Amino acid sequence: MAEHQGIFSVSDARRRAQKRLPRMIFNYIDGAASDEVAARLNDSALSALRLMPRVLRNVDSRRLDGRILGMDVDLPFGIAPMGMCNLSWPGGDRALARLAARRHMPLCVSTAASTSLEQMIEMAEGYAWFQLYAGQSDNFVSELIERAEAAGYQHFIMTVDVPVLSVRNRERSTGFGHPPRMDLAAIADFACHPRWVGETLLAGVPKPMNFNLSAYVSSFDRGGNRAAADWEFLARLRDRWPHKLIVKGVQSPDDAHRIAAMGVDALYVSNHGGRQLNAAPAVIDSLPLVRRAVGDDMVLIFDGGVRRGEDVIKARAAGADFTMVGRPFLYGLGAAGEKGVHRITDILREEADTSMGMIGETDLAAIGAHNLAG
Ligand SMILES: Cc1cc2nc3c(=O)[nH]c(=O)nc-3n(C[C@H](O)[C@H](O)[C@H](O)COP(=O)(O)O)c2cc1C
Repeated sequence: MAEHQGIFSVSDARRRAQKRLPRMIFNYIDGAASDEVAARLNDSALSALRLMPRVLRNVDSRRLDGRILGMDVDLPFGIAPMGMCNLSWPGGDRALARLAARRHMPLCVSTAASTSLEQMIEMAEGYAWFQLYAGQSDNFVSELIERAEAAGYQHFIMTVDVPVLSVRNRERSTGFGHPPRMDLAAIADFACHPRWVGETLLAGVPKPMNFNLSAYVSSFDRGGNRAAADWEFLARLRDRWPHKLIVKGVQSPDDAHRIAAMGVDALYVSNHGGRQLNAAPAVIDSLPLVRRAVGDDMVLIFDGGVRRGEDVIKARAAGADFTMVGRPFLYGLGAAGEKGVHRITDILREEADTSMGMIGETDLAAIGAHNLAG
């Protein structure tokens, strides 16, 4: 157990990160598409879903460990792919990789990570999955697939819910971008956070290293064309990638059915934390519909709005095999660096464990729709 750092919940970490980070950076992490209805709906729908307490059962020996897509894990959740984590705190990627290695949990490494995919899997001691954005350049995409294979990745996530980058009002309001808009307000914002600025400059301004090390592209074009990710691309990728293939960003049962039929190993039900289609449904509401569309055998991974350990249990009850957690880990980084991400893990673990006991279960595999209230 990490020291508590004065952090007793994900929302404590969020509050502290908000104080410690420049507004431009906090808005990048915390923000979502448009006026953020989808992000709020993810949270409120998960909160509204209720678990039924069960009594008079012996729940002394509860277990949270298990196996997901061939990987032995200690916890029922992992770290969602997130770009530019070193903005949350210098060395953020390294802290997350070490967390994954120590706690035996998968870390999804973004194409837009601030550290190369090779270094990430090494620091994570194998507990790393690679996430691809297909676009920008075909050669770059082929190169990334080759690099991921050569580095020993066994899990490949193709993200499909960014056919175009959404409009993100909060990012625009504070000038977040590549490069950032350095107007007077931004300069004042950074001046008010000297510790973040000092440590970030000392560590070296974060760069998208997978791009910087490429023979084909020289920089990350965040708003670039991602139209290369289509059905034909997915079919080719399935032929090309010999290990586990996961498709991330699926909510439509029709899409899910068709993707499952293409022989992928898992579907990752997600609306990008409400950062893409603002009109999308709450992702927890899509989960049982996707489960129905693909049947019991397809592996389903879930993310979006998880802020408490009980949310991991709810996702399981609603049809997920495994859950990824996004922003809470960045709040942990922003609040207390490496100690902060361990703290977030402890909080989620303990909340998941105690919730499981109170619904009368001792084993994750036994959790299902019967645990939902109403
Ligand atoms: C700052 C930030 C960067 C992200 N970058 C990526 C990315 O590079 N690739 C990707 O597939 N998803 C990315 N996502 C989406 C997450 O993987 C995940 O779907 C989402 O954060 C889950 O919602 P939550 O933050 O409510 O847990 C990003 C999310 C955030 C907050």
